Amino acid sequence: MEQRSSEWYAGTDRNSYIHRAWMRRGLPENAFDGRPHIAIANSASDLTPCNSHLNEVMESVKAGIYEAGGIPLNLPVVSLGETQVRPTAMLWRNMMAMATEEMLRANPIDGVVLLGGCDKTIPALLMAAASVDLPAIVVPGGPMKTGTFQGVPLGCGTDVWRLSEEVRGGTLSQEQFLKSESSMISSKGHCNTMGTASTMALVAEALGTIIPGLAGTPAADSRLLESSHETGRLIVQLIAEARSPSTFLTKGSFHNAIVALAAIGGSTNAVVHLLAIAGRLGIDLSLDDFDHIGSGVPLLVNLQPAGRFLMDDFQRAGGLLSVLREVKDLLDPTALTVTGKPLVDYLDSAQIWDHEVITVRATPLIPDAGISVLRGNLAPGGAIIKPAAASPHLLTHRGKAVVFDTIEDMHARIDDPDLDVDENSVLVLRGCGPKGYPGMPEVANMPLPKKLLERGVRDMVRISDGRMSGTAYGTVVLHVTPEAAAGGALAIVENGDYIILDVPKRRLTLDVSHEELNLRSPNKATTDGFANPKRGWERLYVDHVMGADTGADLDFLQGSSGHKVSRESH
Ligand code: FES
Ligand code: MG
Repeated sequence: MEQRSSEWYAGTDRNSYIHRAWMRRGLPENAFDGRPHIAIANSASDLTPCNSHLNEVMESVKAGIYEAGGIPLNLPVVSLGETQVRPTAMLWRNMMAMATEEMLRANPIDGVVLLGGCDKTIPALLMAAASVDLPAIVVPGGPMKTGTFQGVPLGCGTDVWRLSEEVRGGTLSQEQFLKSESSMISSKGHCNTMGTASTMALVAEALGTIIPGLAGTPAADSRLLESSHETGRLIVQLIAEARSPSTFLTKGSFHNAIVALAAIGGSTNAVVHLLAIAGRLGIDLSLDDFDHIGSGVPLLVNLQPAGRFLMDDFQRAGGLLSVLREVKDLLDPTALTVTGKPLVDYLDSAQIWDHEVITVRATPLIPDAGISVLRGNLAPGGAIIKPAAASPHLLTHRGKAVVFDTIEDMHARIDDPDLDVDENSVLVLRGCGPKGYPGMPEVANMPLPKKLLERGVRDMVRISDGRMSGTAYGTVVLHVTPEAAAGGALAIVENGDYIILDVPKRRLTLDVSHEELNLRSPNKATTDGFANPKRGWERLYVDHVMGADTGADLDFLQGSSGHKVSRESH
């Protein structure tokens, strides 16, 4: 088969000489005889600590590629450490996707293995691979092992929120809090809760882009390297059979991903990521699909943040395939995986080994675990809530708004003893959407006012155009669209307005007359809170980013540009 890379390497002219000669630093002459050249898009970085072990994973992928007759090439890509980059890793997800896409297209390669882990890295790599549409397989870096503090397992992320709230509520000393820090991250790998990283790895497997059974394997588990080696061999086969993402990713694949998302109780961030990936493939996936497909799917996994256990328990208990076996009838049986076989073919031999961690269909933790899509005059484009992470008594609620224009405003006033707020209030935080912040940070799970915490209040209705960390929980309405900075009604909510949340009816209403709302416009403090970057990526992003309801991708990055070889460089 004629390889794409042969456009660089085949022939005897000056240009092919140049392309070969510069690569002959370790590559032998027969590397250019028409065998496939395969990039390993590697998001290892010291500044993405959850992915720092991916160089080791890369070596195993390399060995598998060599064994199968391919040429592996490490391609370091833009990487995003969720806890490190400001203002939010989400601002850079599209940049990582764009930079990776362009480097895959610009280089002499025939396929790619995608190495990700920390929250945004697998979504960005999949967006890139979908737009280039060369054969591609994901290797997820896997979760860290569980640390313990005072004999109790720590859920990475989730317990940071819990412990810090305990300090604010006066039930944990500052000293003990700081002591827990060295136990929070106990090994290589990403967060061990059902946060965004775990969710996206499992959802990517349900989509079919990972060798079935691999996602969720802990970073330190030797089976990760074994599967990485196998992935290296498999990518060579994919290239031989010209199986690129567009040949097997269908609406059915996304259907399966949404069923998996609900059954595992995955992160709300998966909604924007799946919408963005589908947008790259030209697959017609809508926000409402998450509600329609996900509703009725039972929650079968008892993991933090909503539940009790952690990712190493999940894997020990049987992992994703054992969960999917329980909901097999809800899956699309035609959706294929990278192996060429349908996902459903992998389920019959899967078994649940610990029913406390993964439960059977007959005894779900929650019968209906999907993500609910809310609409109304406050969110005509839609907003989402994860009922499984919310307080049942707040799912229908009417309360007075307490409005914050920025995250700084919220931090400055939330603990003010004079703040006019009680447990029935609805906390509103705006200016945190894709354009407004910019980048749609994970700030929607606002801390509760200290005076209410001290009275034992542990949850309140909160509403924002921002996102919520996948490791967080609470009755939080997220991704309000259109966002305040894009003309959404969120910008004209005033303190004391009544807001009605009705999750069973899927409504989110600002209980103010149409006439009155028509007379309002955002005040200066609100609009001053919206980002107005002068240059660089932030300017490009704010000018082109679309709403959360379509995945917050840039308008000009939707769809695929394929892998056509560009003009010669010299
Ligand atoms: Fe990297 Fe949680 S911070 S996965
Ligand atoms: Mg996160």
